Amino acid sequence: LDNGLARTPPMGWLSWQRFHCDRDCETDPQNCISENLYMTMADAMAANGYRDAGYQYVNIDDCWSAMERDPVTNRLVADPVRFPHGIKALADYIHGKGLKLGIYGDMGNKTCAGYPGSQFTLQLDAQTFAEWEVDSFKMDGCNSDPKLFDSLFPQMSVFLNQTGRPILFSCEWPMYQHRAGINPNYNLIAKYCNIWRNYNDISDTWVSVLNIIEFYGDNKGNFAQVSGPGAFNDPDQIVVGDPGLSASQQQVQMAMWAIFAAPLLVSSDLRDIDPVSRDLILNKGEVNFEVWVRRVLPQGSYAVAVLSLRGGGNKFPVSFSLSKLVPDARGKYTVTEVFTGTAVGTYSYNDTITAWVDVSSVVFRKYTSLS
Ligand code: GLA
Repeated sequence: LDNGLARTPPMGWLSWQRFHCDRDCETDPQNCISENLYMTMADAMAANGYRDAGYQYVNIDDCWSAMERDPVTNRLVADPVRFPHGIKALADYIHGKGLKLGIYGDMGNKTCAGYPGSQFTLQLDAQTFAEWEVDSFKMDGCNSDPKLFDSLFPQMSVFLNQTGRPILFSCEWPMYQHRAGINPNYNLIAKYCNIWRNYNDISDTWVSVLNIIEFYGDNKGNFAQVSGPGAFNDPDQIVVGDPGLSASQQQVQMAMWAIFAAPLLVSSDLRDIDPVSRDLILNKGEVNFEVWVRRVLPQGSYAVAVLSLRGGGNKFPVSFSLSKLVPDARGKYTVTEVFTGTAVGTYSYNDTITAWVDVSSVVFRKYTSLS
């Protein structure tokens, strides 16, 4: 969606996976879905380095609203007990911390947890969110018909745009279509959404993380291709810092989500997190190289450029086999450095070779087919 937002994958925090629909503020005041939860999380994000590392969105999920709309205006209202000051005041607080506020709604008549949905009030709800100075809106698809999403989600996107307030639009559009056996039109989705969920809700388990990775590897419908500035596939929240994954499994999630160019929306308790998980979430190591490949003559030969995007530090090893870049590559190749003509060696398409790339530099090689 070309609305100036999410030029890189958005980063922040989202309550759902960790805090679900906990409404029990009597016995669990620190963790129930309430203004206190979002305010204290924002405090932690500002105080403990998350904001400065780029985590800027504090996102509300389901269960924030009252069970009924305002009887006079028909507008959504926040639960008066758990959000006594209302969403506008919460937005002011979050903005005061140098952060942005996200909110949640649903395309159906009710949200997944049974709160009022936006089925008959798309435009009104867009206006309400804009008046509250919300910065991001996640739209769910429970209790609605995924066959209609190709027109309903664009409508909502237009209504958000018409408010004049830049609001990041997060869509669950393809996820429900995928479940219903409909092939999502990813070009259309990328035109109307900044981020979109393609697949099942994450849970705090290794099986869940692996399932999502497999789904992304399959890339059914070629959704990877439409990802770019303003439009990113969303494999769901980061569960680093929650109890379910081991330290190495947490690393897997961070690394793979970075490779997917995924939004990094952490759903753990940043107010109280173990230092290993915190360091992982705050890790500045970016995927700071690109590998480009082009077919050249003679037949079956390739030019490969490994480009560093780093602005500092030492030489950096990037390892890959030709078959990783060109799935149909076969046989043996002589590899030479293009600029110097130096031979690197003779390798098969499956051999892994390492290129050491210096800061702001390129390693440029030719793979000449021997067959
Ligand atoms: C669906 C969504 C989740 C979460 C819940 C809230 O399951 O996919 O991300 O928003 O609803 O009820």
